[in-house]
Amino acid sequence: MYHIPVFLESCIAGLNIQPNGLYVDVTFGGGGHSTAILQHLNEEGKLFAFDQDADALQNAIDDSRFTLIHQNFRYLKNFLKYYKIEKANGILADLGVSSYQFDQPEKGFSTRFESSLDMRMDQRNDKTAADIVNDYEWESLTRILRTYGELDNAAKIADIIVQQRPFSTTTAFLSALSPIAPRHREAKFAAQIFQALRIEVNDEINALKDLLTQSAEMLAVNGRLVVMSYHSLEDRLVKNFMKSGNFEGNIEKDFFGNPLVPFHCITRKPIVADEIEMEKNSRSRSVKLRIAEKI
Ligand SMILES: C[S@@+](CC[C@H](N)C(=O)[O-])C[C@H]1O[C@@H](n2cnc3c(N)ncnc32)[C@H](O)[C@@H]1O
Repeated sequence: MYHIPVFLESCIAGLNIQPNGLYVDVTFGGGGHSTAILQHLNEEGKLFAFDQDADALQNAIDDSRFTLIHQNFRYLKNFLKYYKIEKANGILADLGVSSYQFDQPEKGFSTRFESSLDMRMDQRNDKTAADIVNDYEWESLTRILRTYGELDNAAKIADIIVQQRPFSTTTAFLSALSPIAPRHREAKFAAQIFQALRIEVNDEINALKDLLTQSAEMLAVNGRLVVMSYHSLEDRLVKNFMKSGNFEGNIEKDFFGNPLVPFHCITRKPIVADEIEMEKNSRSRSVKLRIAEKI
């Protein structure tokens, strides 16, 4: 199984699908969400999907209404324009990596396997996790570990990295850090460090900002933006952008005091997983689903 889709029904409901509409799934993966979207479209409907990982292309759906684009979603606007698409009726993003990607040892995302320090979702990019741990300065390592990994002892981790590098494998890297791993929380500690490196390798925060900005531009009036994030930093960007149209969450007003915002928030609070959803897919444990409608 490539990936079990998270919140499938809520995402489909959130997209409020018009059967003859045009939809974009910017994180195709195993195609679970895309398959469900196609089931709600009639013969005039269209679905475009993006994935930057070549492995996802094997899941391409054989359907004349479907187009899969092997690109980063930060180029959403360019590629939709290339296909002569002016507006979309809905855009879905299920951020981060798939279970398949975690389970491929050679990709280096998982702390469970010995592998090279890679962590690229897109093999066409040059920068790997090894480049970060072996070349970045202490200050940058500390910032990445603190911000993307939410690690309190980021400075201490960066100290050890700088003292003991170079590293070439995931296991050598983790064993150098094991002396400072909090007792009984070793697995979480390792996962947070890997998460931080993965976000930096794939420039995930800037890609998300680009996606959100372009979504506001590419959505038709009443079009829906549905985003699932798995990290508080991502969720804050999504929340602020849906509320205000900027990443700081500052609502600007016109001369008459009317708020100038691109979206109406459908979810005031994010939808989070209940026991049933968590049982279906353990990945849903940290998900936050937010839905907004273009004004
Ligand atoms: C969580 S999985 C999506 C799973 C999918 N919803 C399903 O039902 O199978 C995320 C997918 O998005 C891709 N991805 C993540 N960030 C991306 C980006 N910036 N551009 C394009 N694809 C991206 C990953 O390669 C991965 O295949």
